[in-house]
Amino acid sequence: MAGSGKAHLRPGRDDVVLSVEDLVVEFPAGGGKKVHAVSNISFDVAKGETLGLVGESGCGKSTTGRAIMQLPRPTGGSVRLGDRELTKLKGEELRRTRTQLQMIFQDPISSLNPRRKIKDIVGEGISIWGKKTGNGDARSRVDQVLIDVGLDPDTVGDRRAHQFSGGQCQRICVARSLVLDPEVIICDEPVSALDVSVQAQILNLLEQMKDRYQLTLIFIAHDLAVVKNISDRVAVMYLGKMCEIGPAEGLYADPAHPYTHALLASIPQPDPNIEALELETLEGELPSPIDPPSGCRFRTRCPRAEERCAEEEPLMREVAERHFVACHFPLVGDTAPPDAGIPVKVRATA
Ligand SMILES: Nc1ncnc2c1ncn2[C@@H]1O[C@H](COP(=O)(O)OP(=O)(O)OP(=O)(O)O)[C@@H](O)[C@H]1O
Ligand SMILES: [Mg+2]
Repeated sequence: MAGSGKAHLRPGRDDVVLSVEDLVVEFPAGGGKKVHAVSNISFDVAKGETLGLVGESGCGKSTTGRAIMQLPRPTGGSVRLGDRELTKLKGEELRRTRTQLQMIFQDPISSLNPRRKIKDIVGEGISIWGKKTGNGDARSRVDQVLIDVGLDPDTVGDRRAHQFSGGQCQRICVARSLVLDPEVIICDEPVSALDVSVQAQILNLLEQMKDRYQLTLIFIAHDLAVVKNISDRVAVMYLGKMCEIGPAEGLYADPAHPYTHALLASIPQPDPNIEALELETLEGELPSPIDPPSGCRFRTRCPRAEERCAEEEPLMREVAERHFVACHFPLVGDTAPPDAGIPVKVRATA
């Protein structure tokens, strides 16, 4: 049993917008087996916060994002948006509430219907649901969001998606996600498919839109480098589990989970803060989510693993303010044995 319980994972503020508790997503895998894609993940996100969600391919990031949207419904757990429990909503009520949650995907070109006009793509939410806020008509709202994402409505409105580059398509996707004035946008690797030169522009755009529209963001990425500058807090997933979550600054400077440490070590230009650590890369294969290791799921690749790690699942515990780790032998202060495989970085303040 995991059951970290979200009480540990609060952002340290009262204005929680989205609350995910013990989220479980399993897919049938044939032969009566299951893919344990997401297993008892819990976190809260505060109004205006950006939570980075990182981990290797297949660790369950997108599944977590989609389960928050109820696409498909999670196997278990709770997802609350404000005071609404999304897992209990149905039909029109669910669809209407879901307009407050939007997703932006990795491949902007294939997220847009190539045959439709941009103004119709961006305005679709309004034509289905009507307009929630602002003055003026639907057309002016579409124009406004296009201007806000850096596109000229008079030039682009009547053109079709196939005429635009990847970066421009992602701007259009951002405009579409904003048109109904959502509370939360889940950005699922929104810059991974773009040219490096365009990535920073889209990241800047998301930051600007976050301020202008008072958004709360969940930002999914493969590696910690991408989310570093934009995240207030970062959560690290491994094989369907959350292994560490904390304020970005503390997590990058003092990673407590050996997996987070390894992820940081794999960033090509390491942060100066972690240069003192002897960097090493992860060894071994990623186990199958159909038959995950007992106890700690990371133990088969962990240089610090001991018997206990196979027998007992580590629960989340606080290692610094708002910084939590699920590890029996975290890389923190004097809790780490001196002969551990990874050098221990002693905290200035414990
Ligand atoms: N519809 C599905 N049916 C069966 N298994 C699935 C389904 N969707 C996802 N999975 C499995 O669930 C696990 C988590 O997948 P998910 O796409 O959430 O990972 P991810 O962290 O987003 O990976 P990536 O970084 O490659 O996007 C993987 O093992 C994947 O194969
Ligand atoms: Mg994914």
